[in-house]
Amino acid sequence: MSAPKKLFIKTYGCQMNVYDSERMAEALGGQGYVEAKTADDADMILLNTCHIREKAAEKVYSELGRMKRLKVAKPDLKIGVAGCVAQAEGEEIMRRQPAVDLVVGPQSYHRLPEMETKIRAGEKALDTDFPEEDKFEALKNRPKSKRGPTAFLTVQEGCDKFCAFCVVPYTRGAEVSRPADRILTETRELVERGVREITLLGQNVNAYHGAGANGDLTLAQLIWELNKIDGLARIRFTTSHPNDMTDDLIEAHGTCDKLMPYLHLPVQSGSDTILKRMNRSHTAESYLRVVEKIRAARPDILLSGDFIVGFPEETEADFQATMDLVEEVKYGTAYSFKYSTRPGTPAAERPQIDDIEASERLQRLQTLLSHQQREIQNSMVGREVGVLFEKPGRLEGQMGGKSDYLHAVHVDNCDKQVGDLARVRIVSSSTNSLAGELIR
Ligand code: 5AD
Ligand code: SF4
Repeated sequence: MSAPKKLFIKTYGCQMNVYDSERMAEALGGQGYVEAKTADDADMILLNTCHIREKAAEKVYSELGRMKRLKVAKPDLKIGVAGCVAQAEGEEIMRRQPAVDLVVGPQSYHRLPEMETKIRAGEKALDTDFPEEDKFEALKNRPKSKRGPTAFLTVQEGCDKFCAFCVVPYTRGAEVSRPADRILTETRELVERGVREITLLGQNVNAYHGAGANGDLTLAQLIWELNKIDGLARIRFTTSHPNDMTDDLIEAHGTCDKLMPYLHLPVQSGSDTILKRMNRSHTAESYLRVVEKIRAARPDILLSGDFIVGFPEETEADFQATMDLVEEVKYGTAYSFKYSTRPGTPAAERPQIDDIEASERLQRLQTLLSHQQREIQNSMVGREVGVLFEKPGRLEGQMGGKSDYLHAVHVDNCDKQVGDLARVRIVSSSTNSLAGELIR
């Protein structure tokens, strides 16, 4: 028998790409591929890419430049580009980097086995279709690899919201929800393989409306079904749109015991003028009202957000409105970005603002957000939290994991195993993590 071929996948961007990369590995597992620990060791390299900002997309070309050199030493090495850059710039990638053998978009990677056969025969393969068939269904019976106690699970893909800055509706396509029974079956399988926490993923996860036995299920209804699965301890979901924070979902945050007290709820800007130009279809006030309702249902919830500064024509007053909103909400964690012009999106046509000004605003926002993040993390000291242990810590006898609020926590002299969930008292807070002790 010939030695197995080795596959190295490098994943960029969002958690949905992480989920897709696992599926791609499963797709190619049938072609005799096992995982390579490094790119140098691989017979095939796949870059699973992100197109959300220009920097992310440009990274791909510089990485491909490096990979090309590996091919000089190993002429049989195959190089593929998957994900959203592949979708948006497939032909251009092939043109700009002749070392690339394969380009596959986010909706057609279940065809990787046939594409692999083709490139092994010395041809190039490009597939950026939005096929009729469902890739997850096509791959569901592939052998699965071992896994840790946490898993991502894509339940919804694509986006119909068309925010004026965003490429997602073009690269991932229209909103599609996976059937509820598939999600439930997949979760049960994950639990059998040792998973204790799942994070339901979707570009607009709270717009989920997957088919169930008696009609469509909302995300809240799906969560209640998942809540019944023995052995599953924690449920999270991301990313949500403020307009889809329905009452049943908000209520679930107060009543569903496995749903964790953490919510990522992007607002992008605190200025109504900018929100309108962004085509967000909510105002700062309506966002704040949603936050108020969520906190009424679950007072200790940790909120997270996404922000874009320097959107076309943003004035100092618009930016100040974002700072005011942040002051009002108080985020436990946040992701903030300088606006990046994306070809083909409506915002790319608008007058851009001065780059130095935008960088300076981003800095001010990030200072405020890190201050809030730090304060909320410090306020955990003295509190009792649940921790799911994910791996041994750096020191002997130490274990590390995540709290209910998604803070990194380490515990010294810990007799727990990976996958154990324990009650922990937080004793101190440092830059990026909390220290705790087991409550016996
Ligand atoms: N420029 C900067 N940030 C962007 N995002 C999406 N598109 C852009 C863009 N063109 C941010 C948004 C979104 C997150 C995933 O990425 O904040 O919520
Ligand atoms: Fe992009 Fe807006 Fe859709 Fe989020 S809601 S994926 S930011 S278009």
